[in-house]
Amino acid sequence: MAIETSMISVGAALLLLLLLVVLFLSQRGPFMQKKYKTTKSVGAESGLWQHLYQFLNRASSPSLPGPTGHFLLGNMLEMTHDHLPIHLTNLAQRYGDIYRLKCGNTTMVVLSSSEVIKEALVKKWSDFAGRPISYTGDIVSGGGRNISLGDYTEEWRAHRRLVHSALQRCCQQSLHGVIERQAIQLKKALSDYQGRAVDLAEDFTVAASNVITTLAFGREYDKSSSELQQLHSCLNEIKLPNPVFARLLKEVTRRDEIIRQHLSNYKSQDKKNEDAITGALLQGIEKQHNTEHKELLTDVHIHMATVDLLIGGTETTAAWLNWTIAFLLHRPDVQTRVYEEMVTVLEERYPKYSDRHRLPVLCSLISEVLRLRPVAPLAVPHRAIRDSSIAGYFIPKNTVIIPNLFGAHHDPAVWSEPYSFKPERFLEGGGGSTRALVPFGGGARLCLGESVAKMELFLFTAYLLRDFQFLLPDDEASLPDLRGVASVVLKVKSYKVTARARPTATV
Ligand code: HEM
Repeated sequence: MAIETSMISVGAALLLLLLLVVLFLSQRGPFMQKKYKTTKSVGAESGLWQHLYQFLNRASSPSLPGPTGHFLLGNMLEMTHDHLPIHLTNLAQRYGDIYRLKCGNTTMVVLSSSEVIKEALVKKWSDFAGRPISYTGDIVSGGGRNISLGDYTEEWRAHRRLVHSALQRCCQQSLHGVIERQAIQLKKALSDYQGRAVDLAEDFTVAASNVITTLAFGREYDKSSSELQQLHSCLNEIKLPNPVFARLLKEVTRRDEIIRQHLSNYKSQDKKNEDAITGALLQGIEKQHNTEHKELLTDVHIHMATVDLLIGGTETTAAWLNWTIAFLLHRPDVQTRVYEEMVTVLEERYPKYSDRHRLPVLCSLISEVLRLRPVAPLAVPHRAIRDSSIAGYFIPKNTVIIPNLFGAHHDPAVWSEPYSFKPERFLEGGGGSTRALVPFGGGARLCLGESVAKMELFLFTAYLLRDFQFLLPDDEASLPDLRGVASVVLKVKSYKVTARARPTATV
């Protein structure tokens, strides 16, 4: 009995000591980091403390669940599945909405519910705002000087602020008109097909890309324009990870030549389009030259921002439009309801973005397609820039975070019949809430083009469904395959459709 009591008290004393060490270390953390910068020897000492601190944190936090890894490969094979978002979502059924995968030295943490995604990206945004650093990423992003792949630094923050305010200025001044014009062009392209069965993917890409090129440097292109074809072909080739390295280098050079040419054309115009983002960016850089951050941002940043907007803003919107028509072919009754709502509420008139609150059926369709097919299904990987935690699990610095938006949008704890296309879930009493949607990510890395995208999705869909009925081609073609092809952007497999003009159409 006496031995037992003394063992318990030794155990309690050790536990107390451990607690004191943890307390001491957590209070000294920032102090040690400060010292790390000043002297080498103290740096080594603080590195040691940091390791000890990490070790204790790791030891006191439960270990992350995840599949068993293979010798040397770890969980590398998990990443080679043809539809990674579906595979990672299936793994979440087994391991929960936060689990880890090991690939070589890199630990990845996959987040598959909107609750954990928001904890990391929004609540703890400053811990997880980094991007993984890679050699190919550096080549594609002009040495990390673009927004989407650049790491979280003072330069990056200034860059994103500059582009964000330039975009906001353009959105207020001209975005609505720019999208309306492209929606009318798109309607015209569709009516030129005169009811023939066609694949609309390219028309959607041209419309989305013209919104961005008009915003960026005041230019729009015809579908057949060789300049546009060139631009799209090199942007499509630059996909990460790209196995053919020499090809990647060639396409990046080609892309940079095209953008450089555009920017120099813009600069040499006597009468510049004052609404264009390029103008606002140039002015922003000029202003910065008179501040203490003189050389922080240069023309290279304008160049890379243009690339960001073109890449971020073309395939995403186009893929989303293509998904919408594919889903509507499966549920023609939804198409009819959206059309009837528009003609009842607006009568003859075409919708404005400000009409969205009066068109709940149309908005429910947009939300449901964003839910089922978030076009950037795994967002862009984040990196922990310091030790942190998610859902009570310790997450060490440099862990790669994969926000599985697709998984969050199919979470059975949040969505009833998560795999079914049911826009009505977002209507009153339908049980679905747009608050649980995260198609644009969140926090410091929230999609930069969110407001552009939302207006595009609304106006393009409204104009198309107001004037056309989308039908399966006469020759009993099968319904579009809704599984999709997943890369950075989740696309629908190519399919043909007939666009029949409505009697009320003005095309
Ligand atoms: C349906 C349309 C779109 C969707 C669903 C979408 C979604 C996303 C997502 C999920 C991210 C990653 C967020 C993260 O890392 O956590 C992102 C990033 C980004 N998007 Fe979009 N996007 C769309 C359209 C656009 C448009 C139209 C533009 C440009 C005008 C754009 C520009 C960007 C940029 C520049 C980033 C990188 C932001 C950063 O790293 O700070 N996107 N987008």
